[in-house]
Amino acid sequence: MLEIEPEVEMRKKSQIEHDVHEKTYLMESEEETIRLEVKTDPDELRRQALWCGIKPGMRVLDVACGPGKTTSLLYEIIQPGGSIVGIDYSESRIQYARKNYGKQGIEFIQKDFREKMQDIGEFDLVWVRFVLEYYREEAFNIVSNLKEYVREGGTLCLLDLDYNCLSHFELPDQLAVILPKIMNYLNDKYNFDVFAGRKLYSFLYDAGFEDIDVKITGNSVLFGNKKDSVKYDWLKKIEIASIKAKEVIDKYHGGYIQLSEDFRQYLENPKSFTYTPLIVCKGTKITTVD
Ligand SMILES: C[S@@+](CC[C@H](N)C(=O)[O-])C[C@H]1O[C@@H](n2cnc3c(N)ncnc32)[C@H](O)[C@@H]1O
Repeated sequence: MLEIEPEVEMRKKSQIEHDVHEKTYLMESEEETIRLEVKTDPDELRRQALWCGIKPGMRVLDVACGPGKTTSLLYEIIQPGGSIVGIDYSESRIQYARKNYGKQGIEFIQKDFREKMQDIGEFDLVWVRFVLEYYREEAFNIVSNLKEYVREGGTLCLLDLDYNCLSHFELPDQLAVILPKIMNYLNDKYNFDVFAGRKLYSFLYDAGFEDIDVKITGNSVLFGNKKDSVKYDWLKKIEIASIKAKEVIDKYHGGYIQLSEDFRQYLENPKSFTYTPLIVCKGTKITTVD
């Protein structure tokens, strides 16, 4: 144990340095595919998709599709006759998606949306959920570039959290003080955007979309007895934060282990209440008249 610990610490440190340099996806870990699979709530996703106007027969692009569960649920809504392409730059998630959800009408392609995506064509609807929050600096440019893949008269849908991970009652004092510090740290050091949701409308507006509409809803509204899947998701987020925001979390009395335990107890308490606002925004690409 004594021999392993410094090695683990060194690996974590070099991973952090690598991530800061490469600006890789903040949540990347060996378990990320499974975290995304477990945390995706089909009912919530369907409600969001229907509000966005996803309909049978459409051709849809699922940008940064993760393990493909969202793509598969969207595929069900566009039947009969629709087809969907899911893209993600993670090789392991694309492999997982192909294996678990690939079939006729659902295609998964490994691509980085920051690069030009050759040969994927245009779509009736482009869906971008829980993505821009990881790209605080580039978010508007990403939206602007994605416009190219929306056909004229088609729709771009942006869905992101706002005031991310910060709304809980009633946290023990030490947790209430450290959570905003952790989120600020991730915001500043990892290009994460705690306030991505509130910016989506302006992105569509500035990119020239029309008929923009906005809906505000709650993501992961938790009270009473919480599901194991949501507890797993929150504790996994804390584990990732303990690596990325180590210098903040080390100041917590008892360190990461105590922080994780305190948050676990908070979630176990049926009286605790947690939510994060989700902003859903859609706009139409105008038809140019020659
Ligand atoms: C939080 S997950 C969202 C997954 C899915 N959209 C959902 O709603 O659950 C973010 C995903 O974005 C992917 N991603 C991050 N940056 C990317 C990029 N530049 N190009 C393609 N995928 C990217 C990650 O690999 C990850 O699977």
